Amino acid sequence: MVLATNNPTALQPFDEPSIESDARKTLNRIILELLKRTVVPVKSRSPNIGNLALVEEPELAEFMMRNPSLFQKNFALVAALGDSRFNLNGARWETFRNRTQPAYNSASRPSERSSVASHYQTAVDAFDPDNVNDIEVLLGKAALRVFMQALGISPSIDAFIGLFPQVRTHAKLLQYFSWRGVKEPDVLAKRANWLDTQFSDIFMADSLSRDFIQQAISGSQLDEWHPAVTDLMQNAFAGTETTVATLCWALRLVGQNQALQEHMREEALSGTNDMPVIRSFMSEVMRCLPPIPFVVRELTADYEGHGRKFKEGQQIVLSIVGLHKHPDAWSDPNQFHATRSEFIDSKSAPKAFRPFLSGPRVCGGKRLAEMEMLAAMAAILRKWHIITDEADVGYEYALAMRPASLGGVRIEAI
Ligand code: HEM
Repeated sequence: MVLATNNPTALQPFDEPSIESDARKTLNRIILELLKRTVVPVKSRSPNIGNLALVEEPELAEFMMRNPSLFQKNFALVAALGDSRFNLNGARWETFRNRTQPAYNSASRPSERSSVASHYQTAVDAFDPDNVNDIEVLLGKAALRVFMQALGISPSIDAFIGLFPQVRTHAKLLQYFSWRGVKEPDVLAKRANWLDTQFSDIFMADSLSRDFIQQAISGSQLDEWHPAVTDLMQNAFAGTETTVATLCWALRLVGQNQALQEHMREEALSGTNDMPVIRSFMSEVMRCLPPIPFVVRELTADYEGHGRKFKEGQQIVLSIVGLHKHPDAWSDPNQFHATRSEFIDSKSAPKAFRPFLSGPRVCGGKRLAEMEMLAAMAAILRKWHIITDEADVGYEYALAMRPASLGGVRIEAI
């Protein structure tokens, strides 16, 4: 059932050594294209990116999200990724979804707020002004602890997070290959297998994880251990990377506006759970810098409507970046306004604000992530003063888009 570990230390290299850097450059360039077009008048924008159709118009984007049976997740690299609730459709997706969703719903109840906050408090207390780059790992560990607690499992956090750089590389390659065609499929398969084995070993070493997986696959006729491991790993990775990416952007941005930071700090220190300015700021961070800047969907039938025409089997890039800056939906879309009226004056988020998507394939951890980010930001502001000396360090994309580093950010105890 569990594969033997044949290479205990690293991903097998490709024969062509530039593949990894090509993937990195290509994906970063795609994000740049998506960002660049947001400052071009809508009428002058191409309806495609590369050879794929692109959607960023609010009404069509919402229609796509609401109709996942027409605009389904694409299966292009499903074999290399392994089954998970992220890439499945239909009944098998529902089976996988039901393994984790009830736990996420329970973990995001208001009664869980203080327990979630305590994990971030521990991380924030360990911030070290002389090692600002460690902040990302500390926040990552807090996010993983919240995730593991939600599912009632307890694998080694250090072992888990230690593999994230390799998972990032793998995720980048899969996305790159889905654009450019798979190269060296044998090496890719071995890498997927290696990662699977590493995570399988980590889960096997924890009796709670073993029980969780056994329960998830019980009654199954097939050998379902590995898909269950892959699914759990992908859930953990997706939930952690996105939340931490947003918090890192938030740190960079809040350090650029001291008056705003003071205002947010007052809210954080007030002791209430209702923190409208911090909430609005976090939404604005995700509007301008959505951790998932785009998703890809595939047509299951021809579609004509909303002024566009698509063919069955065609792939479409849904640009969250473009949606979040579309002039039909936002005033002053390219400016960062921490308390923009679309957030601060409104009880519900605008329809063109979809960092978690919407509809049946909405992010499973949306409520939990929102709770986490608010708790984390409040804990940071209560304890640390943040100063960003270097406004722009660029971004790095690997499933989630995060700042290239926390370079140029300083923290001082309050
Ligand atoms: C700021 C934080 C987060 C953002 C922006 C975010 C965003 C997203 C987006 C855009 C998707 C849809 C991807 C697609 O359909 O192609 C997604 C899916 C998902 N996310 Fe998140 N996410 C966040 C945090 C989390 C957390 C904390 C968890 C779990 C603890 C989580 C679990 C999931 C799951 C399970 C799915 C798959 C839903 C499905 O199709 O069944 N996410 N997320």
